[in-house]
Amino acid sequence: MTNNKSRVVIFISGRGSNMEALIKAAEAPDSPYGVVLVLSDKKKAAGLDIAKSHNIPTVVIPRLTKERSKEDYNTLLAETIIPYKPDLVCLAGFMRVVTKEFISHFPGKIINIHPSLLPNFKGLNAQQQAIGAGVSESGCTVHYVNEEVDAGEIIAQAKVPVLPTDTAETLAARILIQEHILYTKVVTALAREEKDSNNN
Ligand code: GRF
Repeated sequence: MTNNKSRVVIFISGRGSNMEALIKAAEAPDSPYGVVLVLSDKKKAAGLDIAKSHNIPTVVIPRLTKERSKEDYNTLLAETIIPYKPDLVCLAGFMRVVTKEFISHFPGKIINIHPSLLPNFKGLNAQQQAIGAGVSESGCTVHYVNEEVDAGEIIAQAKVPVLPTDTAETLAARILIQEHILYTKVVTALAREEKDSNNN
């Protein structure tokens, strides 16, 4: 990775398909960003193997134990990634809530992707929530992260139809295709902006 690219750290807990989309886009020679670290709270997260296969450094910071408070855990998260000097921290299916203290280390630099058109259907099982509510349209949202789950400033959204025959799984699959496109677009755009502001 060349020095003038934005440095992106990605947090995952599982499959890592959004992470993979971000890594693949970063491999284009003209990408304005590079992925410098993938962090997982689960050592069995499938995404870790994908990251390794792309020669991206990985680190596992296991979840809370009785001995480790949420605050200590978040301090450890921050201490782990600070040496990587992230310009952007992308949560991609990371199943832990980050604290105010963690956010304060990276102001305006933490973003998340959520599989609904926020502010609708925050939290878990967003696709099932959309089906349960009987909406005809859903989608995904990339937003800045604040202390409240799925409530930070919205950066961009993509819409998909909800079909009468949809299950949570079929809807999730349709949304996921858009997630990969949207997340990559947003990270690329933010990295370009960052580069331009550094050049001025
Ligand atoms: C995605 O649907 C994302 O929107 C949500 O968690 C899921 C993660 O999937 N936050 P993956 O690990 O990126 O495949």
